[in-house]
Amino acid sequence: MARHFLRDDDLDHHEQREVLELGLAFRDDRFLRTPLAGPRAVALLFDKPSTRTRVSFAVGVAELGGYPMLIDGASSQLGRGEPVEDTARVLDRQCAAIVWRTFAQERVEQMASASAVPVVNALTDEFHPCQVLADLMTVAQLRGGVDALPGMTLSYLGDGANNMANSYVLGGVTAGLHVRVGTPRQYQPDPAVLAKAREVAAETGGSVLVTDHRDDALAGADVIATDTWVSMGHEQTAGSRAEPFAPFQVNDSALKLAAADAVVLHCLPAYRGKEITAEVIDGPQSAVWDEAENRLHAQKALLTWLLENS
Ligand code: CP
Ligand code: NVA
Repeated sequence: MARHFLRDDDLDHHEQREVLELGLAFRDDRFLRTPLAGPRAVALLFDKPSTRTRVSFAVGVAELGGYPMLIDGASSQLGRGEPVEDTARVLDRQCAAIVWRTFAQERVEQMASASAVPVVNALTDEFHPCQVLADLMTVAQLRGGVDALPGMTLSYLGDGANNMANSYVLGGVTAGLHVRVGTPRQYQPDPAVLAKAREVAAETGGSVLVTDHRDDALAGADVIATDTWVSMGHEQTAGSRAEPFAPFQVNDSALKLAAADAVVLHCLPAYRGKEITAEVIDGPQSAVWDEAENRLHAQKALLTWLLENS
């Protein structure tokens, strides 16, 4: 049976830990392991724009000894309505893994249900689990290792209903974090995700708090994270988002409420002056460039782990 990574809780606490440790090892030694030597091909399918995810998976597959096959969804037969399951049956006979950025979560689930090789979610409307692996790895890197993660508080400010919010909640509690989401009342995380996260938190010692009071979300936080207020596909709603999200901007006054050495994360692309100020993202507490680099190391670790455990 292939192991897939479609949402953050597809790895349990111990498995996530193994991937994060391996990611840190790849950071120290880029060519530590070459499980794709041959080279074996990995299909990298994109139905939405991407810079970091596309580059980090392409470079990562090459560094693992494999051949990264980038496929633009719109110019493939998927874009003309070929069934997802049929695509899986074609790709899995030729590729070692399938990485897909698409719209509905259901689509990656359909791909996984018909694929004999690992399927990785490279962002859907609901989750961005590879990003949260890189974010956890970044905090571990800056705080002396993976052991430092359980018990830390991560405060996410901004769109509580988007893919990053869901993934911070689920991936964060899997690591044993206390995850706080500061968001307007009308932009709450998916209730089913919150319920699942609370189950996971009961096992790992983490917790989840969702609040529309920015200060409650931030008090004493070890990590402050944010994301665009307007995710891909929501561009037409941009006008109605600026006002409710304005109090949740990551700025100097927000930083003052968190721990003095709080790490600031943003998955990027960032919109300076909207969800985060230039002073903060370009300031001394920002770890966003390490975070972007860690996409590479974390995903190499993830692919290695999935191939070994399938
Ligand atoms: N953070 C992230 O996934 O960036 P891209 O959209 O550029 O891939
Ligand atoms: N929430 C953002 C993340 C981009 C990497 C989006 O889906 O557009």
